Amino acid sequence: MSKIAVFGANGTIGSRIVREALNRGHQVTAVVRDPAKITEQHPSLTVVKGDVLEPVSVRAAATGQDVLVSAVGGGDGPGHLATIEPAARSLVTGLRELGDQAPRLIAVGGAGSLRTPDGKQVWDAPGLPDWLLQIMHAHGDALDYYRTVSDLAWTSLSPAAMIETGERTGHYRTSLEELVAADDGTSHITAEDYAVAVLDEIEQPQHLGERFACGY
Ligand SMILES: NC(=O)c1ccc[n+]([C@@H]2O[C@H](COP(=O)([O-])OP(=O)(O)OC[C@H]3O[C@@H](n4cnc5c(N)ncnc54)[C@H](OP(=O)(O)O)[C@@H]3O)[C@@H](O)[C@H]2O)c1
Repeated sequence: MSKIAVFGANGTIGSRIVREALNRGHQVTAVVRDPAKITEQHPSLTVVKGDVLEPVSVRAAATGQDVLVSAVGGGDGPGHLATIEPAARSLVTGLRELGDQAPRLIAVGGAGSLRTPDGKQVWDAPGLPDWLLQIMHAHGDALDYYRTVSDLAWTSLSPAAMIETGERTGHYRTSLEELVAADDGTSHITAEDYAVAVLDEIEQPQHLGERFACGY
């Protein structure tokens, strides 16, 4: 059993991570700006208030935990610019204050920077709307920042190009830098199976200090 704190616990992906963690018997702390947004009750679930952009909140949420998960986002568009990369810096600042007591960090990343079979990156595809490019590059900036961090155990997990709620199959494939796609080029994963990948990585760490990707 691990003690896992989750920022963004009421979000689409964060809530699936919380559910998967509880189902596997872990002790979960949901860290949310508005505790009223967590209506679920579970004997292994604690809800606390916190803002990922405040290092003091990060430090408080991370104290005594084995793993800190960040599944925060900024909605569709400009909100991501104010959230994704600043959150990465705040998470690292808050965790560093805990020194060698800092828990491991797992951050939900983006697919934009992953490589495609033509040798380009997902965000190079023609015709992508500006709002989506902003989100992709915000995640790219956050990943670039994490890659400068060598004194914390961080992992960034990039989803497939499409991640939607759906079935939990328990199956997925991984890669390091390539977009995980099917033979027909489509790339997707359900939020439920993405959460499986997060919990598998928590239980059997294989990607300390690096990004990896998952999909079908
Ligand atoms: N293919 C892809 O690459 C792909 C696809 C989808 C999503 N993603 C990424 O996955 C992440 C999660 O996406 P999602 O769809 O689950 O998003 P979501 O449903 O919008 O959830 C975002 C969560 O972040 C929280 N949050 C935002 N700012 C915060 C702050 N300052 N402090 C604490 N919590 C904060 C929100 O809480 P409030 O309720 O308080 O606002 C919410 O719980 C995002 O970073 C998104 O870009 C990537």
